[in-house]
Amino acid sequence: IRDDAPAVGDYIANYISKRINEFAPTAERPFVLGLPTGSSPIPTYKALIKLVQAGSLSFKHVITFNMDEYVGLPRDHSESYHTFMFREFFSHVDIPPSQVNILNGNAEDLIGECNKYEARIKAVGGIELFLGGIGEDGHIAFNEPGSSLASRTRIKTLAFETILANARFFNNDISMVPRMALTVGVATVLDSREVVVVVTGQRKSLALSKAIEEGVNHLWTLSALQLHPWALIVVDEDATAEL
Ligand code: GLP
Repeated sequence: IRDDAPAVGDYIANYISKRINEFAPTAERPFVLGLPTGSSPIPTYKALIKLVQAGSLSFKHVITFNMDEYVGLPRDHSESYHTFMFREFFSHVDIPPSQVNILNGNAEDLIGECNKYEARIKAVGGIELFLGGIGEDGHIAFNEPGSSLASRTRIKTLAFETILANARFFNNDISMVPRMALTVGVATVLDSREVVVVVTGQRKSLALSKAIEEGVNHLWTLSALQLHPWALIVVDEDATAEL
C-alpha cells in the first residue's frame, strides 16, 4: 500500500526496472513483459520512461505483449490500445517496434489471431512478468465477470459496467464504445512467472476487497491471483476503502 497513485507508479516502475536489470536480458535471452492499458498504469509508464531517460533501464532486449484490444476500432483511432500504448509509453522508450505485440482487433480471423497470440507467447518462452490493471467489476485484462479461470486469449463481449466505465474515453457516449474485445485469458495471466497488479482509486475498492478477502471466484476474476505463486498487488490508500 502506497499513499497515492504517483507513489504506486514509482514503486512498480522501480520494481520492474530491478527485475529487468537483474535478468540482464540479451538479444538471445530477452525479458518478456506483459502490459496493460487504462489510466491506472500511466504513472508507472511515466516513471519507467524517466528511468530509461536517466540511463538506468533499457527496453532494447524486452519483448512486450499487451493484455487486450478492442474489436473493430481502427488501429489509429485515438482510443485504440495500439494508439494508447505508443502515445503513453512505447514512443518514449528504446524498444524496437518489432518487439511489441498487441492483439489485432481488426483481424479477419479473430479466433485465429487469438490462437496465434498464445502461440507467440509460448514461442518466446512465456511471460516473465505480467503487469495488469483491473476494472471496477474486478476484471483483469478484459476477463469480465463470469470468465472461466482456465480461459486463454479469446474474443470477449464487454460487460455493461465496462462499457459505462470506458465511455469517458468516448465523449461519454456509450454508443461509441466497442462492444467486444480480444483479451488474454485468466490462465494466460496465471501462466506468467510473476504477476504485478496496479489498483488505484476508491472506485476499485470493492473489486480489491472481493479479490483478496473472499474466495477465488470467477465473478471477480482478479481473485484468480490467489492461485498464483508469485503475485503482487500494489494499491493506493483510496483503493483500500473496503478492506
Ligand atoms: C480496461 C482494460 C483493463 C484495465 C481497465 C481499467 O477495461 N481492458 O485492462 O485494467 O480498463 O482501466 P482504468 O485503469 O482506466 O481504471
